[in-house]
Amino acid sequence: MSDACKLAAGNWKMNGLRADLDEARALAKAFPKLDCGVLLCPPATLISAMAEALEGSAIMVGAQDCHPGEKGAHTGDVSAQMLADAGARQVILGHSERRGDHGESSALVAEKARAAHVAGLVTIICIGETEAERDAGHTLDVVLAQLAGSLAEGATSANTVVAYEPIWAIGTGRTPSLEEIAQVHDALRASLPDPAISLLYGGSVKPGNAAEIFAIENVDGALVGGASLKAKDFGPIVAALEAS
Ligand code: 13P
Repeated sequence: MSDACKLAAGNWKMNGLRADLDEARALAKAFPKLDCGVLLCPPATLISAMAEALEGSAIMVGAQDCHPGEKGAHTGDVSAQMLADAGARQVILGHSERRGDHGESSALVAEKARAAHVAGLVTIICIGETEAERDAGHTLDVVLAQLAGSLAEGATSANTVVAYEPIWAIGTGRTPSLEEIAQVHDALRASLPDPAISLLYGGSVKPGNAAEIFAIENVDGALVGGASLKAKDFGPIVAALEAS
């Protein structure tokens, strides 16, 4: 653990209906006071309702993407200002599922990040290599290039978090070794424009492996997918971060 702020962030992806807000309420009830940051990023349809459900709690609400523009003729898109207005305080940008499904480049991610900062949102910038890139020994080259290309100008620990998510570890139950995570996070820390920016690990983080991942020096928390959907799974991950 470094001196950066600790954060456990849940990415609900395209999951969640209003009834699932009970999971957010259960989490808030389990952690009335927190030393580390805890964030839930539901689909855009639930941001407003979740912000209402968590009002007065220690848990923050975030979004999963935004458009780089402020407003206008962009059917189906949502601006950073709209997310902030709905109650989001943070936004995940450049997730590999968006880079893959929507062809998002690092340059576009940086544009979105700039728009998010203007709207007052903290950005969680995601980077990560494919399995083929890791097997070819290109992991550090790939993630450092993504980092340099995706950060907004003026990125600091006050407006930016970085999440390292190896694509082959997402939703697979597989993770890099602790040494491999440490190697990437050490390289990222050395390349950050502000060394106090929090560095999250993401990819098959579960209650069973969270504590050992949080014990790595340059890991400041986690970006969690599947295990963030239920309070009974995310709760122990939050507890492991609090204890780290
Ligand atoms: P899983 O935790 O389901 O592997 O997903 C990780 C992720 O993509 C979080 O953004």
